Amino acid sequence: MSIAQNTETTAKLRCIACGATPESAGQDFRCTACGDLLEFFFPGWTPDQLDGALRLHSGQAPPRHHTDPFALKSLWLQRRSSRNALDQSGVWRFRELLPHIPAEYVITLREGNTPLYHLPRCARVTGVENLHAKHQGMNPTASFKDTGMTFAASSAHQGGFRWVACASTGNTSASMAAYAARGNMRSLVLIPDGKISWGKLSQSLDYGALTCQLRTDFDGCVHILNELVRQKPVYLLNSVNPYRIEGQKTAAIELMEQLAWEPPDHIIVPGGNLGNSSAIGKALVEMRELKLISRLPKLSIIQAQGANPFYRCVHEFGGKKLEPMTADTLATAIRIGNPASWKKAVRVLQATGGEVEQVSEVEIAAAKAEIGADGIGCEPASAVTLAGLKKLRLSGFVKAGESVVLILTGHLLKDPDFTIKFHRGDLFSGMADATEAAQANYLQRAPVVLDANLGAVIAALDAAERN
Ligand code: F0G
Repeated sequence: MSIAQNTETTAKLRCIACGATPESAGQDFRCTACGDLLEFFFPGWTPDQLDGALRLHSGQAPPRHHTDPFALKSLWLQRRSSRNALDQSGVWRFRELLPHIPAEYVITLREGNTPLYHLPRCARVTGVENLHAKHQGMNPTASFKDTGMTFAASSAHQGGFRWVACASTGNTSASMAAYAARGNMRSLVLIPDGKISWGKLSQSLDYGALTCQLRTDFDGCVHILNELVRQKPVYLLNSVNPYRIEGQKTAAIELMEQLAWEPPDHIIVPGGNLGNSSAIGKALVEMRELKLISRLPKLSIIQAQGANPFYRCVHEFGGKKLEPMTADTLATAIRIGNPASWKKAVRVLQATGGEVEQVSEVEIAAAKAEIGADGIGCEPASAVTLAGLKKLRLSGFVKAGESVVLILTGHLLKDPDFTIKFHRGDLFSGMADATEAAQANYLQRAPVVLDANLGAVIAALDAAERN
């Protein structure tokens, strides 16, 4: 079975390596000529075609100044007060910049619409006053995956698939299971046994997925899934699926809208399988082409030191090759040794002039507690952004007067185990990092166990006040 492209839209598929433009994608979403990844492009995305997109999506004649990016901006803003489910979604609200999927196939949980927070304490720590976080953990299943998933799951629905599937470190699977359930499809989850957090596992169980814990790592799960989709009529929902990337683009569009279309100097994202960096970078480039923004922010990607194949790809091999590795980090979401979208991510770095950094386990844990202390919180993989920013400040790549937006990818409650262990002081016990970990002791706030009497509580309060 192949996945047909919708002909009503101006979007077309193209191979990122050989440039082939197939009419449809195979079930593994790879180029049949050379095996590389596919992406959507919008040939000659001219004002006239946007005019067509406006007409197609709104069913009405385009507004008078339809060739003007201002028309799009004002249409998107108008939709914020609409009662239509598509308009209320922070993804489908921007449907003019996405391939067309008819409304009857859309599965939406009103994803997107995530807040942009100033981080005053983190600003002090990094010396960057204009520091914000876009919290993608505030999505319906508590991670950034929902923005891509609503779009790709809708495409599976349109294709009439009964089963959807993904390999995951936990968030993709939680998101996929939810959207499949809403769309009356069955879902198959392949996750590495023992290496995903309870919060994420519990989600896919509750949403009704067939959840298989394989005795391998994420990369091993991907390998088996790729074989499976060649044999069974199962729709692949990993981020090699270009529909995922299109939906995820909207995080960047929404961010620019929140900033009144004035791009920040830097955007910083965690890097795992590198779908998110590819999506955000693609959105930035497209927004500039369409004159929705006038310049590109630098998009930088941060990896955990123990799961750093992309860092090495860029710093050791000049972005020319990626050497897969066995990955290990307590930030299990990004425990990935063979990222699928590395070539797309290299392109994004080249287009935006961003950097790649790596950070240690202790740096991640400390940054996570610092983001928590701003009353925001996030999961460990998201905290690499702040840890990376500190390094980019030290190297001089980010300057004090510049504006920075961190993309926080997952909610604090995704992985409470990590947080509790950190604050109790046992996150690194028995590990080589234990000595370095002492530097982060001052951030630990372990629970205090007391006798049940007022005096004991008052003494604790007074002690806290003195410290
Ligand atoms: N942050 C979180 C919380 C994630 O779950 C992931 C990836 C990333 C960052 C990295 O994003 O892969 O687009 O570079 N999680 C995937 C999953 C792999 O299966 O949930 P990426």
